[in-house]
Amino acid sequence: MNFKTLNDFDVKGKRVLLRADLNVPRDGLRVTDTSRIDRLKETVITLHQRGAQVLILSHFGRPEGEQNPQMSLAFLLPVLEECWGVPVAFCRDCVGDSAEAFSRSLENGQIALMENVRFHKGEEANDPAFIAKLAALGDLYVNDAFSAAHRAHASTEGLAHVLPTAAGLLMEEELRALDKALGSPQAPVAAIVGGSKVSTKLDVLYNLIEKVDYLVLGGGMANTFLFADGADIGGSLCEKNMADQARQIMAKAKARGCRILLPRDSVVVKSLGVNAPHEHVDSYAIPAEKMAVDIGALSSEHILETIKDCKTIVWNGPMGVFEIPPFDRGTNAIAKAVAARSVSGHYVSIAGGGDTVAALDNAGVIADFTYISGAGGAFLEWLEGKELPGVTALTAFNALNENS
Ligand code: 3PG
Repeated sequence: MNFKTLNDFDVKGKRVLLRADLNVPRDGLRVTDTSRIDRLKETVITLHQRGAQVLILSHFGRPEGEQNPQMSLAFLLPVLEECWGVPVAFCRDCVGDSAEAFSRSLENGQIALMENVRFHKGEEANDPAFIAKLAALGDLYVNDAFSAAHRAHASTEGLAHVLPTAAGLLMEEELRALDKALGSPQAPVAAIVGGSKVSTKLDVLYNLIEKVDYLVLGGGMANTFLFADGADIGGSLCEKNMADQARQIMAKAKARGCRILLPRDSVVVKSLGVNAPHEHVDSYAIPAEKMAVDIGALSSEHILETIKDCKTIVWNGPMGVFEIPPFDRGTNAIAKAVAARSVSGHYVSIAGGGDTVAALDNAGVIADFTYISGAGGAFLEWLEGKELPGVTALTAFNALNENS
């Protein structure tokens, strides 16, 4: 991790282009979860206190290069001001003459939000001409948008080639936490992976079996593995066309010494609904008219006993249909135990992904995990072992200029 950080620059009187991820969930004009905004506060306030002139760049939604008022960032101003406790100005464009004049009018310590970068086609195209227009607004580029780092766009990647670049405090925190999970973790390592489809997580699974000692599978995707292993899975959600892939993953994991844990018992229902009648059955003998909606108590006990001596836990995806009680019990049991062992210092536990955070929140353990990533797609690509363009580029400008 040889990128520069905020401490490497004297930002006083400098125009800092801060790439944030303000792609927050909303209901009408109400932000339903402010965590991404809250987690940016430290960087914003640090820059403010050090006298930088801060221009915040972000995308919101997918306007595909069109000026779409529905996706204007203007609605965020009161929320940003409330969460950060400082005034935030707004500029109606993120490039061009008016944006340049705006950037020169800022005073030291002032914070401004620029309009949605995705209103311009050059953003997603990572177009050099658009990058140059953005770069004209600033003296320094700070990338604090780990959750958008899987996109090679002008404001997430391109700018790092043309301006002195630093990782923001949130970016730094994410990268250090993720490094502890899979980069240079303390072994043994267990990965807990759930969610409905194997097909969306094939690369994740192939990558994890190379890196971890235990791979715990739950959720709908476990059914596909059970089916591939010869189980009767009744009417459970299953991607039968993925059975060969599942067998290949199991064989590779075995050869590499990674132990895969599949559910031993499952909670099954005839039809899904809140408090629907349910029973516990052997995961290898699910009745034809029933479907699995959660892992059973035997499974969670077995999982927790097997991974008890692990030092590092990486989690992505719920163990069951946690949104519909009581089929959150399996996820909750594992989550609570992992959380307790994290608090007592036995585990370093790292979790990420939209559904995962919601499931851990439902279990009431968010604060007790060692680290919860704020990223969705970027966390998954990182779990897949892919290079994230926004992270790789953090050293681009500095490397170029130090070597020349
Ligand atoms: C996210 O919310 O995961 C990021 O902001 C990326 O958004 P995108 O998938 O539209 O690029």
